[in-house]
Amino acid sequence: MSDFIQSGWSVFIAAFTIIGIMVCIWLLLSQSKKSVGIDIDSNQIENNQVWDENLTELNNPLPRWWMWMFLISCLFGIGYLFLYPGLGSYPGRLNYSGQAEHQASVDEASVALKPIYERFASMTIEQVAKDTQAKEIGQRLFLTYCAQCHGSDAGGSTGFPNLTDQDFLYGGNIQAIETTIHKGRIAVMPSFVGIGDEKIIDLVSYLKNYSSSSRNQEQDQRGGLAFQQFCSACHGIDAKGNQILGAPNLTDDIWLYGGSEKSLKESIRNGRNGMMPAHENTISLEKMKILTAYVWSLSNQSKPEILERIQSNNPK
Ligand code: HEC
Ligand code: HEC
Repeated sequence: MSDFIQSGWSVFIAAFTIIGIMVCIWLLLSQSKKSVGIDIDSNQIENNQVWDENLTELNNPLPRWWMWMFLISCLFGIGYLFLYPGLGSYPGRLNYSGQAEHQASVDEASVALKPIYERFASMTIEQVAKDTQAKEIGQRLFLTYCAQCHGSDAGGSTGFPNLTDQDFLYGGNIQAIETTIHKGRIAVMPSFVGIGDEKIIDLVSYLKNYSSSSRNQEQDQRGGLAFQQFCSACHGIDAKGNQILGAPNLTDDIWLYGGSEKSLKESIRNGRNGMMPAHENTISLEKMKILTAYVWSLSNQSKPEILERIQSNNPK
């Protein structure tokens, strides 16, 4: 759009708009006088205005009320374009801009919200996570910024991780979650189409071995060797993943892209490049703290069985 607002386009658009309005007014005025149809002197209907024996076509002027409405709209248009932006890059006499209005209401809201956020400023993330008001705000922030990808219950879907379980690509501690939201993440799982279909089938068999019992021993063995050769650098020798790289654990039954033979083949053949966008420029630091606490609490606090586990690990 900015291409059009700059330089010659601006003049072109402004000139086109003004000429358009002028032509409308001229057309209106030129049609407003009584003309063709009836010969005024003799009050006779002119010859070629009669059709089908008695259908008479008269060219009466436009109704007055209609004409005035049209004229008033044109004048309103001119007045509007003088006061508000609309003529190319001319900002309008009132210097109004939607952006400024939006910014003003954002500023107003931040002043109103300041005391609320200030309450959380001195708290730790764990404390914020326990706060009922912070939870409500956190949920609203999540619905605004994150739900379109992770789902409104943060349960995820194919390609978008579930944030409520304990299975993390990049780690579920506060710092890892914070980094993920601030900086975003790009997963790099290269395509292995080059190793050939046979090896890929062996690998799939090997991976499925972790989550199922009846297997083809020989194929699994070949798969295991291929795994050590091509995959262990990222997924680990034990295939349990590497959170520094975001390489998932392949031994559990939780799959980001699906655990069927077809999905596994696709993951290996085509590679996968999940992308979590960075939010450091869209979410203020105060909001970020509340959001981080909310996301952290999804997998750390909300589930009674997890709380139980934490408590039983830390006997008083
Ligand atoms: C455009 C879609 C999109 C949006 C919006 C988005 N995410 Fe993500 N997020 C992803 C994807 C895809 C991944 C997985 C990246 C990968 O495959 O490595 C991810 C990963 C994550 C992870 C890491 C999970 C793990 O297992 O380690 C967290 C935490 C996270 N997102 C939180 C958020 C929060 C909080 C928001 C809102 C501020 C958000 N995301 C918004 C797509 C998105
Ligand atoms: C350069 C590091 C790297 C190598 C090498 C690598 N992977 Fe991956 N792999 C990843 C990353 C990172 C992801 C996560 C992709 C995402 O989140 O989009 C992944 C994802 C996967 C998935 C999808 C998991 C799921 O939950 O859906 C499978 C299956 C997989 N890898 C298998 C393999 C196999 C088999 C090999 C060896 C042929 C291999 N990977 C080699 C980094 C690697």
